[in-house]
Amino acid sequence: MENVTDKPEVHRGLEGVIAASTNIGYVDGQAGMLSYRGFDVKTLAEQSNYEEVSFLLMYGHLPTEEEYKKYVTKLRELSEPDANIYELIRKIGAKTHPMSTLRTAVSYMASSDSRENSENLQDQEGMAINLIAKLPAIVGAIHRVYSGRDIILPDRELGYAANFFYMSIGTRPDPMESKIMDTALILHADHGMNASTFSALVTISTLADMYSAITTAIGTLKGSLHGGANERALRMIQSIGSPEAAEEKLKNMMEKKEKIMGFGHRVYKVYDPRAKILKQYADYITQKNDRNLYLTANRIEELMINKLGSKGIFPNVDFYSGMIYNALGFKTEIFTPIFAVGRISGWAARSLEYAGDNKLFRPKALYTGEKGPLKYVPIHER
Ligand SMILES: CC(C)(COP(=O)(O)OP(=O)(O)OC[C@H]1O[C@@H](n2cnc3c(N)ncnc32)[C@H](O)[C@@H]1OP(=O)(O)O)[C@@H](O)C(=O)NCCC(=O)NCCS
Repeated sequence: MENVTDKPEVHRGLEGVIAASTNIGYVDGQAGMLSYRGFDVKTLAEQSNYEEVSFLLMYGHLPTEEEYKKYVTKLRELSEPDANIYELIRKIGAKTHPMSTLRTAVSYMASSDSRENSENLQDQEGMAINLIAKLPAIVGAIHRVYSGRDIILPDRELGYAANFFYMSIGTRPDPMESKIMDTALILHADHGMNASTFSALVTISTLADMYSAITTAIGTLKGSLHGGANERALRMIQSIGSPEAAEEKLKNMMEKKEKIMGFGHRVYKVYDPRAKILKQYADYITQKNDRNLYLTANRIEELMINKLGSKGIFPNVDFYSGMIYNALGFKTEIFTPIFAVGRISGWAARSLEYAGDNKLFRPKALYTGEKGPLKYVPIHER
């Protein structure tokens, strides 16, 4: 039966609906804990690196030395996109939002992969690795073109995060910049059944290819209720302008019932563990420049927790990440594509996991329209 008529409960936004099982990542919103394959993200952020975390998400265990070397070598070998991708990015140019360019570029990747129509799991995995390997160079090139600069090819001597920084900013990062970039990517690598992950699963469940699934996910990440919040959080902190102005401006925004960007979360009702880690790096990286921005953010946080902490409203991952990217030299419009570079491993791992035990997604909708049948009136008689 397509149309349900007996008024069952509608789960708007599928809130609370368990649509699949997974053993990839776990979010405990009450305890403020996030883990990948059982490893606390805090431990991974301190002790691991993005390549290892990506392997962990994809294959379910920490790699042995040999597995790690093989994985890193593969990512580096595949890191350079074809010339036609660079050409496309140049052609789209600086007028288009980087998330739109990224969505188009990832979709275009399928045209140079002979596996693009395969439903075979091994081919899907091959496409996933190709995407993980190439996304930093693609986002790096988009950042360069968007800011009117020349594209930089990958340096295969650099690690994943350092290379991404290099291709985006144009200088090789110092050890601390490299660590901060790596940490940001690790912290964004996976996060439960969020909207973009879910959309990737819907696409892969039709037996479409991995490029289609990731293109879908990127389109979903673009919105300001999802990946786009970090851009808006930074703009808000910049517009508040100083710690002294924070109280008055926040009061005005709250009176107008505006949401304060970078606060609150569907799952976390305590301090987002990712925000806690990023806050320390924001503090560090703004010591030389942008100190006013950090102090303003800190004051906003203090006021918000006083006012709404009792309702479970705390800073989320987007509150401090934008400030960090800004201090590292990234343009604001590239913040969400950076999120995508981190999240690519989670999207890919979860898509493969779902494809391994596939069931086509096909929920129902409660029909609330006219049941009819109405009389069809020819157009000239209406
Ligand atoms: C993420 C978000 C959609 C979660 O919404 P939610 O699950 O409906 O939030 P809650 O139910 O926990 O909200 C509890 C109360 O705090 C208020 N609140 C939540 N987030 C708030 C925010 N950022 N600014 C001001 N008030 C907020 C809600 O309006 C609600 O108020 P009420 O009790 O008067 O109705 C919401 O917090 C939000 O829009 N945040 C800003 C955007 C953002 O940073 N997104 C990135 C998320 S990673």
